[in-house]
Amino acid sequence: MMTKLEVLFTRNEIEAAVRRLADEISSDYRDKNPIVLGVLKGSFIFLADLIRLLDFPLEVDFVTLSSYKEQTESCGEVSMDRCFTSDLKGRHILVVEDIVDTGLTLHFLIDHLRAESPASLRLCALLDKSSRRKIPVHIDYLGFTIPDRFVVGYGTDCAEKYRNLPDIRYLEKNV
Ligand code: PRP
Repeated sequence: MMTKLEVLFTRNEIEAAVRRLADEISSDYRDKNPIVLGVLKGSFIFLADLIRLLDFPLEVDFVTLSSYKEQTESCGEVSMDRCFTSDLKGRHILVVEDIVDTGLTLHFLIDHLRAESPASLRLCALLDKSSRRKIPVHIDYLGFTIPDRFVVGYGTDCAEKYRNLPDIRYLEKNV
């Protein structure tokens, strides 16, 4: 099978978006010592770039959630393989995601986080495939809205491949 990878966002375009998000987040969180909670695996590159632009005290934690299971279609089930290690009660939580698609993953996570009684809970996502939403999810800090096409790169994968691409590309199969 041949695979074609057309660029959607270049490294420079991603950098500009991350910088804009970091500016917005900085003005809201400067004195809040937030926990920046990355959703693995897809968010790891975005989170690493984002937090290096935040010059105020913060903590980082990760949670592993998975919904795609080696396919290009969400199977509709979310599993949590690793829970957060921090005590979230009374803390300001900023969840960082690479992409929101059906919304099932974030809906699941936000329900769990609310039960921990954080002081505040917001979501930062680099990509929003909003036309695919099955459950409403409010994104407080958004990089780009994208069409309903499969994307890879900058942390996002297809069957664990392409996470290392420095840009974001469309993945077309059977081309
Ligand atoms: C992707 C992405 C989100 C989720 C979004 O993760 O990182 O967590 O899917 O999809 P949804 O809105 O339809 O729930 P994936 O399950 O592919 O795991 P990964 O982060 O390890 O790549």
